[in-house]
Amino acid sequence: MSNPWTPQSWRTKTVRQVPHYPDAHALADAEQRLATLPPLVFAGEARRLSLALSRVADGKAFLLQGGDCAESFAEFRANTIRDTFRVMLQMAVVLTYGAAMPVVKLGRMAGQFAKPRSADMETIDGVELPSYRGDIVNGIEFTAEARIPDPERMIRAYNQSAATLNLLRAFAQGGYADLHKVHQWTLGCVAGSLQGDLYRDLADRLSETLAFMEACGLTSDTTPQIRETEFFTSHEALLLGYEEALTRVDSTSGDWYDCSAHMLWIGERTRQMDGAHVEFLRGVRNPIGFKVGPSMTPDDLLRLIERLDPDRQPGRLTIITRMGAETIEAKLPALVRAVAAEDRKVVWSCDPMHANTVKAAGGYKTRPFEAILAEVRAFFAVHEAEGTHAGGVHFEMTGQDVTECIGGSMAVIEADLGDRYHTHCDPRLNASQALELAFLIADHLKTGRRLRVGA
Ligand code: PEP
Ligand code: CO
Repeated sequence: MSNPWTPQSWRTKTVRQVPHYPDAHALADAEQRLATLPPLVFAGEARRLSLALSRVADGKAFLLQGGDCAESFAEFRANTIRDTFRVMLQMAVVLTYGAAMPVVKLGRMAGQFAKPRSADMETIDGVELPSYRGDIVNGIEFTAEARIPDPERMIRAYNQSAATLNLLRAFAQGGYADLHKVHQWTLGCVAGSLQGDLYRDLADRLSETLAFMEACGLTSDTTPQIRETEFFTSHEALLLGYEEALTRVDSTSGDWYDCSAHMLWIGERTRQMDGAHVEFLRGVRNPIGFKVGPSMTPDDLLRLIERLDPDRQPGRLTIITRMGAETIEAKLPALVRAVAAEDRKVVWSCDPMHANTVKAAGGYKTRPFEAILAEVRAFFAVHEAEGTHAGGVHFEMTGQDVTECIGGSMAVIEADLGDRYHTHCDPRLNASQALELAFLIADHLKTGRRLRVGA
């Protein structure tokens, strides 16, 4: 049996992906200061997200999780946050309208700083330095000084997360997300594209519907759902000292919540049963997720589910599969079947990004849009065949007009990659590619709904 959980109990386990801070006192000091700072989210909000996710697990809603691979100090701008937020709103409208299903909006934002790395060291031109682990740990510049982990970066990441969350709350509830603004969410870079045209048509229909509803007395003033939206935050719970410092007891329930974000997930590299990350997350009551790559077996998956959700809390677990376009059809069905056979209610979400990364000419990491589409299509096909709900998607994306993933209807080609390649880690979908995916998913959801109602 496992030992009692405390916010510190992870420290007795093997911690993978841990930065080597040269000054242990400075680290302890920064963690202590963090522990006195206000929580970023409230337990009640995390519970609302659990409720929303339990509806996804029941097949009655869809999860849209997206944002940067890595947030950074350098790219911290109101416009960047706004643009990611508004592409997610556009995608959510496409999905809600197309599939007649509520969409749970969850940003990889306001805390997505720490990065796991495949190698501890990076070598360029014969010079070897510690790898970049995200702005919350060290600097991306390839110098010995920048790569030294600095605990003060945790305080800066906390402050940036607080400011980001403040803006997101204002956008979600301050009028920006009012459905009457559906036309204004279109980003300049999408306007002339096929997706832009499709979106405009849909926005026209939505405006007509709103006018009809207004005539019936349902206006922004009478109906808050038209005026505002709920937007939640999430990140990979990788840097456990930071997460521990923001873990607090909820005074209303007496339960522990990690108040750095509404939802936290465990990455593919840190999901070992006996490891520190699983130990930490098993004890907080937030909704949590974990990534599942091709090496996962049905037995190991069931064991991990039992460890993280022994009480079968509704909306607790999101399984984020990242198999690769070539592998998903061979690996996913057995996992889905095993979970269904145990009658475990989970959210199945598809991350079509992390197992479809390739090196392009010029050394850029990229992802072919075709492979991303293929993994999403296969994800829906598997769930349709198994009779389970393809519950959501998990994208690395931005509202900026970047050239990081190749392909899409506005065709980014290999030679374009250098034009606007700004990511601090993995290549992201740009606004037009993200919207293209939303239309594809809306079609799948429509089909799934028709199959279920037998229409
Ligand atoms: C990520 O989501 O940025 C990530 C590192 O994913 P994974 O753990 O699936 O590799
Ligand atoms: Co990534």
